[in-house]
Amino acid sequence: MRPIRKAVLPVAGMGTRFLPATKAMPKEMLTVVDRPVIQHAVQEALSSGIEQLIFVTGRGKTAIEDHFDHAFELEATLAARGKKDALQTVEATNFPPGTIAYVRQQEPLGLGHAVWCARHVIGDEPFAVLLPDDIILGDRPCLAQLLEVYEGLQSEGANLIAVDEVELEMTRKFGVLDIDHWHEDGTTFTARGIVEKPEPAQAPSNMAVFGRYILDSSVLRYLDRQEQGAGGEIQLTDAIDASIKAGTQTLGHLCEGRRFDCGSKEGFVLANVAFGLRDSLIGPGLKPAIKALLENLD
Ligand code: G1P
Repeated sequence: MRPIRKAVLPVAGMGTRFLPATKAMPKEMLTVVDRPVIQHAVQEALSSGIEQLIFVTGRGKTAIEDHFDHAFELEATLAARGKKDALQTVEATNFPPGTIAYVRQQEPLGLGHAVWCARHVIGDEPFAVLLPDDIILGDRPCLAQLLEVYEGLQSEGANLIAVDEVELEMTRKFGVLDIDHWHEDGTTFTARGIVEKPEPAQAPSNMAVFGRYILDSSVLRYLDRQEQGAGGEIQLTDAIDASIKAGTQTLGHLCEGRRFDCGSKEGFVLANVAFGLRDSLIGPGLKPAIKALLENLD
């Protein structure tokens, strides 16, 4: 199998659900405990062995570029003041030159279009996609789990998609996979189709796509068609479906870990609570405080 070296992270969304917080700040820079949402996905990708990150960005997103750059004055000041821990924390957001490439999506035409904007940087190799709104709390990075399954596949040219079981009435919020058959491991299945945001009555299953994919570069050919799908947008889901129908092996995999949708206010607040409780510094104090808060609610 060809190794997965590149990951695409679409970050061009306007974040209207979080206004006014996102009026002058990218939604990806909202923090879950002490780091921006985007850093969770970046750390997941790099700790899973990804070498190059391709950010598909847009207007008003320069704070993301600054966040993953040298902060010379800050670093010099922290060093001069002997604040080693803070310095290490800042240095951990700065990667070797060339690790991140930025391409711009000039118009919000959909997730498929965002990935297509990165086509020249992706080239002809298989690649990962991480949707930064989805962050996962678990012992093993979700992308590393996908890569493990991918490396075990017998043939080149497959798509592998992380899935989560959802209540049937939730299917209209997700891409949903049509299951052909489950594999022996009980966590992976072969898909025969995928539909974007189906109504529950039309949903082929309750296996919802969440924001982690490994895709064969042939999917870019289907995105070349620029066909509009659900919501009038160019959907990644439709390109994957076309590639399945053309014979590309496509698998769904249930990853371990708890997923949080930081694209919604509820999911974002919940992520802060869950990651806060797991934090060694604030977790011990947070737990009794949250308990007390809940006991005093009507
Ligand atoms: C996107 C995808 C959808 C997927 C979801 C996961 O939708 O189009 O297939 O299930 O992300 O978060 P969005 O949430 O951007 O509408």
